[in-house]
Amino acid sequence: MPTQVALPDAGWRELLDCALGARQRARAPFSYFQVGAAVCASDGRLFGGCNIENASYGLTVCAERVALWKALSEGAAGFTRLAVVADSPQLTPPCGACRQLIWEFCGEIPLLLADLQGRWELASSRELLPRAFDAGFLT
Ligand code: THU
Repeated sequence: MPTQVALPDAGWRELLDCALGARQRARAPFSYFQVGAAVCASDGRLFGGCNIENASYGLTVCAERVALWKALSEGAAGFTRLAVVADSPQLTPPCGACRQLIWEFCGEIPLLLADLQGRWELASSRELLPRAFDAGFLT
């Protein structure tokens, strides 16, 4: 990806670079589809994740979830933004399962969807998962 793609602010650049770095470590020997993600915690820490596939295909974990699990297991609580990067004809959004988890753990946050050609788009977690089910229904 070109290094000087204009993003809304330097924070997005840093987060996208984290996601790009994580993508380099993708374990995708079955789909060959490498994805990187990164979340920014409320305390400013960045956590990157890549997709990890294995021979029992259904146990694959998406990059977004790896980033989130890393962050949560390191004590992060609250997130301000998330980036996803892949090399696809159209910008890759989080899958349905990840949308649910992003909503539950991050709430309403902006997401940057980006590719290796320098294309990007901002979306929001609420926009990606309208009428979400969450813990609010369990009370
Ligand atoms: N994948 C992700 O990691 N994140 C997404 O947003 C979409 C899909 C992964 C899962 C699997 O390893 C591969 O991409 C193909 O579905």
